Amino acid sequence: MAENKQKGLIKATMMALRRLSVREGDVSVHLSDQGTGNQSGARQTRISCPELTARKGGDPIVCLTAYTTPMAQLLDPHVDLLMVGDSLGMVLYGFDSTLPVTLDMMIAHGAAVKRGSIRACVVVDMPFGSYQESTEQAYRNAVRMMQETGCSAVKMEGGRDLAPTVEFLVRRGIPVMGHVGLMPQSVNTLGGYRARGRATDEGAGIMADAIAIAEAGAFSIVVEGVMEQLAVAITARISVPTIGIGASAGCDGQVLVVDDMLGLFSSFKPRFVKRYAELGKAVGEAAAAYAADVRGRNFPGPEHIFGAMKKSS
Ligand code: KIV
Repeated sequence: MAENKQKGLIKATMMALRRLSVREGDVSVHLSDQGTGNQSGARQTRISCPELTARKGGDPIVCLTAYTTPMAQLLDPHVDLLMVGDSLGMVLYGFDSTLPVTLDMMIAHGAAVKRGSIRACVVVDMPFGSYQESTEQAYRNAVRMMQETGCSAVKMEGGRDLAPTVEFLVRRGIPVMGHVGLMPQSVNTLGGYRARGRATDEGAGIMADAIAIAEAGAFSIVVEGVMEQLAVAITARISVPTIGIGASAGCDGQVLVVDDMLGLFSSFKPRFVKRYAELGKAVGEAAAAYAADVRGRNFPGPEHIFGAMKKSS
């Protein structure tokens, strides 16, 4: 009896010690796996902003947008960077621009994507009006974004005028991704979504924007909707990676809006989008098959219900 009690005590102590050593030896597993359902116990650390910067001129950086936990879980094993873009205003909420998107919306979606990922660097867009007023406003809202989502960095659209803000944030510990060229938040001042940099002076301005944002300390820069030659020249000129969208395969990485590349968003398809799946079509077909089953009383079948009654013939 006493021997059994002693054996039980030893077993309990061993188990407690094992739990303790797992916790001490691999804190990152417990921190980074929160809420992702990763039970493997394998060490998993998130790709950091400096790691992405170090990829300049190396293996292309793979990036997709994501807005929800399940989509982040699906994409995370395949990408280096998950971008919670304010494009969600158009592809999820049905707005006709990104302007109505609020900080609270971005925080909710940023936190959802963080919960659904363990490996990719998560970058969240600062929405229109949340950073342009002053460096202090940008800092205050970026701190909220970092604290409430757990993201690794924020993204901001803007060129030379935004450089002091980028520097202010970076010096205070907030990694910033820049965004130059076609900047959807400036659709009203740019006069539409047309590709940028056709005219020489416009191209020179975008080049100056990219240089200013890189020199202000951005860890990488999205280059959107510009002539290929300009994208290549910017990539060669700045010391941080360029992430192209509608730019050039010569950029240091690429990003696409996930709903575009999966064929889930069909309101329009920009020239630079390549469809890798037709999920919108698959959803329509599935809904039609379900509707036919319900109308024909073929769903639910006996395998989908509890205590199914025998059908009288
Ligand atoms: O809002 C967004 O999704 C973006 C990327 C496409 C670059 O800014």
